[in-house]
Amino acid sequence: MVALVPLPGFEAGALLASRLEAALLRVSEKAFPDGELYVRIEDYDKLSGEDVVVASTLYPEQLEKLFKTLILINAAKSNGAKRVVAYVAYLAYARQDKVFLPGEPVSACVVSKALRTSGADALVVVDAHSPRALECFEGPVANVAVSHVLVGAALKYLEDPVVIAPDKGALERAEYAAKHYGLDYDYLIKQRDRVTGEVSYVPREVSVKNRDVVIVDDIISTGGTIAEASRVLLRSGARRIAVAASHGLLVGEALRKLESSGVAKVVLGNTLMTRHEHPLVEYVDVTPVVAEELKRLLKPS
Ligand code: R5P
Repeated sequence: MVALVPLPGFEAGALLASRLEAALLRVSEKAFPDGELYVRIEDYDKLSGEDVVVASTLYPEQLEKLFKTLILINAAKSNGAKRVVAYVAYLAYARQDKVFLPGEPVSACVVSKALRTSGADALVVVDAHSPRALECFEGPVANVAVSHVLVGAALKYLEDPVVIAPDKGALERAEYAAKHYGLDYDYLIKQRDRVTGEVSYVPREVSVKNRDVVIVDDIISTGGTIAEASRVLLRSGARRIAVAASHGLLVGEALRKLESSGVAKVVLGNTLMTRHEHPLVEYVDVTPVVAEELKRLLKPS
């Protein structure tokens, strides 16, 4: 028997529970007058001796969600769960996966270690920014690739597209989706100013002339990366551009930026606790792929 403990408000938790045929446990939460957070697994009597999936995401309000996830894991473990799998659909802080400038921390490592110390025996995430971001978790880890699912949904808007990674870091996920459908793929060379965050592209020949394009990335935050990539590709003769991104943070003016850069469609995974109702955006349920990975992980050895 598997039980699933959702972070309150994370709707994908219920979807996942039904795909896993797991008991969906009730959780309550509150904040104390001084702001401190509290959670309680109301169905605590269903934890003892079970494999328990704590299903959460760390966006928006990354720190609050991280803390609630940690205390939920602790509650599951200390109330008798046999094994706790932390399913963190969007792993915040994964981009700080190494020291880029002297004096910086490795934030991804701090998050992984905190999850482990709180009682997570295994960690499952959707399309972590990099494999390195998960290296500090001392236990089984699954980084669920979903780019093929997102590109699959984008295909209905495009004709025989080229799959493009907007930087070398995204090449693996672009290649994975492209090979799944037998599509051509390539990548752009992005430069980001580490201080201002501004994105620019190094000129590079990509064969997109008169071709539709699907840009594949893990995260859309400000939209700067995708907007610049879209401009570069349209200047190189691309016809129609869609985007397939796992985590659509879409902060501030991101959607307006994408629209004005010529992007025709943005396909996103249901990995966050925000949803943008906008004609440009389509959400795709990635829980079927996640459920398969969880089933593999939870299989008795
Ligand atoms: C960075 O390497 C990531 O893969 C994304 O490309 C980046 O986080 C997107 O951020 P923004 O939308 O702000 O350019």
